Amino acid sequence: MKIFSGSSNQALAQKVAKVMEMSVSPVEVFVFPDGERRIQIQEDVVDEETVVVQSTNTPVDTHYIELFFIIDGLLRSGAKSVTLVMPYMGYQRQDHVFRDGEAVSLDVVVKLLEALKVDRVITFDPHTIKLREFFQTDVVDLSALSLFAQFIKEKGWDSADTVLVSPDMGGLRRIKKMSSMLSNMNWIATVKDRDLDTGSILINRFEGPLPVAELKDKRALMVDDMISSGKTISECASFLKSNGVKEIQVFATHPIFSKDAPKLLQVSNADMVYVSDSVWIPEEKRFEKLKILSIAEMIAGELGL
Ligand code: R5P
Repeated sequence: MKIFSGSSNQALAQKVAKVMEMSVSPVEVFVFPDGERRIQIQEDVVDEETVVVQSTNTPVDTHYIELFFIIDGLLRSGAKSVTLVMPYMGYQRQDHVFRDGEAVSLDVVVKLLEALKVDRVITFDPHTIKLREFFQTDVVDLSALSLFAQFIKEKGWDSADTVLVSPDMGGLRRIKKMSSMLSNMNWIATVKDRDLDTGSILINRFEGPLPVAELKDKRALMVDDMISSGKTISECASFLKSNGVKEIQVFATHPIFSKDAPKLLQVSNADMVYVSDSVWIPEEKRFEKLKILSIAEMIAGELGL
């Protein structure tokens, strides 16, 4: 087996390779002055099982195109198979037509990957529960929730003074799963309304089995799949604080961190923001309240350590 990496998350590829006592094989990504990319696989891959690590976060289109070219380069060079490790898969928001005239972006990128003949896809905490339905190819969707649950147990945070919070109703499956990993810890959800045109968010009520009065003086563990603008976390944290919660710890798999998200998170009511390394966070987007937990061992395990 040989491991290659696109440019989106080379640090994660290196970590996975290290756990597997391998090294990342060289691939040259040359960028022409007009922005076009030329890919060259610089390793013999004839009859080899190959792995490509590439998250498709910002710049999403560039990372997809680069990935398509790497897969093509591997197969043209005689690789026996290509396993795609795409910890964060972009374009999952648009998994159906929300408003007339819209494209189903997820369908398009899946069709392109399948046309290129990827053999297996390993991803983490997909945004849409429909992801597998789009693929004919074998999809393994792992979850950083077990990593977070382990961390929470090690901290000794338990039901005595801690509750789980989903910042929106779309996260109910996730929060129930997390609850079952933490000895059925109590949970509650906030109801989020987002204006599709402006992106503004309103959170002003709760749903779920835990009485709101029970939040007073508790530690809240907020769990989400991704943080993009940071508005969901920030609004939810303010709402929890105004309902008497004393401490807020945030757990989110994919740190997309668009635009001013780091600043917003740093000044929010969250005490700490724990994320996975599914997406590489450049130095300028790191902030004091941020802590990164690695999914490298989980990936290595799936690749057959
Ligand atoms: C929503 O369905 C997701 O689970 C996240 O809550 C959302 O994408 C976060 O986005 P933002 O950080 O822009 O509020």
